[in-house]
Amino acid sequence: MSDKPKVWLNNEIIDWEQAQVPVLSHGLSRGSGIFEAFGTHVVHGDVVTFRMDAHMKRMAQTLKLLEMEIAYSSDEIKQAVARICEVNRIERSIIKVMGYWGEEAIINLVLRSPLDIAIFTIPDSPELGLDNDVPITACLSRWNKPDPGAVPVMAKACANYLPGYLVRKDANDRGYDLGLTLDAAGNVAEGSIESVYIVKDGVLKTPPLGNILASVTRDSILAASKAGGLPVEETTLEKEDLFTADEIFSCHTGIKVIPIAKFEDKELPAPGPVTREVSMMMKKILAGEDERFSGWLEKLYSL
Ligand SMILES: Cc1ncc(COP(=O)(O)O)c(C=O)c1O
Repeated sequence: MSDKPKVWLNNEIIDWEQAQVPVLSHGLSRGSGIFEAFGTHVVHGDVVTFRMDAHMKRMAQTLKLLEMEIAYSSDEIKQAVARICEVNRIERSIIKVMGYWGEEAIINLVLRSPLDIAIFTIPDSPELGLDNDVPITACLSRWNKPDPGAVPVMAKACANYLPGYLVRKDANDRGYDLGLTLDAAGNVAEGSIESVYIVKDGVLKTPPLGNILASVTRDSILAASKAGGLPVEETTLEKEDLFTADEIFSCHTGIKVIPIAKFEDKELPAPGPVTREVSMMMKKILAGEDERFSGWLEKLYSL
């Protein structure tokens, strides 16, 4: 018997190994899958999700942008997430909700059936390294973000991760941990799987929505910083802003704030004072110690 977590697939609970698609499925051979990823945390003996509603909203937006449908409401997906988490007695983890056409698509490019939905629970491990906020290095990628006129970059579509793969590979091959991209207009966008903030003269700055994924972590940092009285701006950033920043950090659902200690050949304080403050604010929120944001934590089950 498998010791891997069970998987929720189209309203059934199955073994991890059974969650498979044919090689010629539309999802794989046409690259049409979509997904959402968000964390579960243990807070005061309860397993909770962080901003699951925001992730459901983003998934609905992805489906709208790509003109795809699923057979479940957001509430049904949320119930399914709670069910599979409890079945697996999951604690700190990443939940991955995949939407895909699992059927073979040899002739038809356009399918109109509802997507299959699979929900995976991926427990934290030393390899996954959730919450591991040791400082990292970053470079400016030689690859740009795709033009939003060619593909909806705000959709969390698997196909949008092919550019992300190239960005990360380019960075790793040059000895950096991650690459930051410019958008099609030449302004700072984001990383392969992360958003970016800079600090300049005490002000937090992050690129506006439009040419980047609507990161839930980016949005949470915006809201928490405003509530905490930190000056913060959504504003167009040029690549020179990266080179002249006092601090840079990246953020995503798995590690809320990741200080960047070196950008290209420039050393940076990591964490710098503002980054440290943001990181502490987010940790308090995730520990359930900030009443103002308790609504972001949604209970799945008690341990
Ligand atoms: C391209 C991209 N930008 C930003 C993020 C961060 O988004 P979130 O905070 O919702 O994890 C991700 C996360 O997967 C991403 O893939």
